[in-house]
Amino acid sequence: MQNKHLLGLENYPAQDIQTIIDTAFSFKEVLERPIKKVPSLQGKTIVNLFFEDSTRTRISFELAQKRLSADTVNFSASTSSLKKGETFKDTSQNIEAMKIDAVVMRHPTPGSPLQLTNYIDSIVINAGDGTHEHPTQAILDMTSLQEKFGYLKGLKIGIIGDIAHSRVALSNIYGLKIMGADVTLCGPSTLIPPHVEELGVKVNYNVDQVIEWADALNVLRIQRERMGGGMIPSIREYRNLFGITTERLANHKKEIVIMHPGPMNRGVEIDSSIADSDQAIILDQVLNGVASRMAILYLLLGGKESGDNK
Ligand code: CP
Repeated sequence: MQNKHLLGLENYPAQDIQTIIDTAFSFKEVLERPIKKVPSLQGKTIVNLFFEDSTRTRISFELAQKRLSADTVNFSASTSSLKKGETFKDTSQNIEAMKIDAVVMRHPTPGSPLQLTNYIDSIVINAGDGTHEHPTQAILDMTSLQEKFGYLKGLKIGIIGDIAHSRVALSNIYGLKIMGADVTLCGPSTLIPPHVEELGVKVNYNVDQVIEWADALNVLRIQRERMGGGMIPSIREYRNLFGITTERLANHKKEIVIMHPGPMNRGVEIDSSIADSDQAIILDQVLNGVASRMAILYLLLGGKESGDNK
């Protein structure tokens, strides 16, 4: 891997993304075994530093670490000495003094993982930093797309929803463009950043046209906390204009693949009947998340071959 850390996918080498995806497929085979564990990271210690809520990413990273036989420690900001006024720098340096190898960090502030690399020597993996990036989500999304279609180059992906506040969207845009996919963004104009076309994507405010065009849709969570703040008039209007509803998909005579990073607002950005249908690969994304994070940890921490796959 060209980079020591995984802070984001902006300018990330295409070859390294492909290596992660290929390695994820070989780890997925490990996850199908009765004993889902390999010794690849035996002796390595990884701290999961979560300053913000998470279900999927946190459990996925912890499982990935355990499947690779690493020692793991979970840190929760709400029960730490940060509550007593300790700084982020002191907390990080004290944790590193206990001889660790890597930190997986989620933080509400964009740029925090980069800041952490200034404080510690360990490998840093960004598990989501505010509205900036969520690179491991984008990698698991690309792994899922490659698994479904067999290729990424030339694939047509619609990303629907709150693009402006979505770290999932930004990491997907960077990753998909690097891998040669075509990306169209769709959502309320208040939630599409100005000049976003400079990232090599198209913008189309008509979700039906995007559905006709795309091979797959990545449907983003509408962040209810932004309702009423002038960004979206109402949930009902959002659903009518941009929702991936049963009626809307029934009007299109095509089988389109549906993705969602979770957590979902059923009945808002996506209908339950769509989320639970065969065309949705949402739970495949979750399983591929464990395999992709195993691959990322293995490749960044210099895991050893066991002679039994990985
Ligand atoms: N997709 C995702 O990041 O989910 P969590 O917030 O539950 O980790």
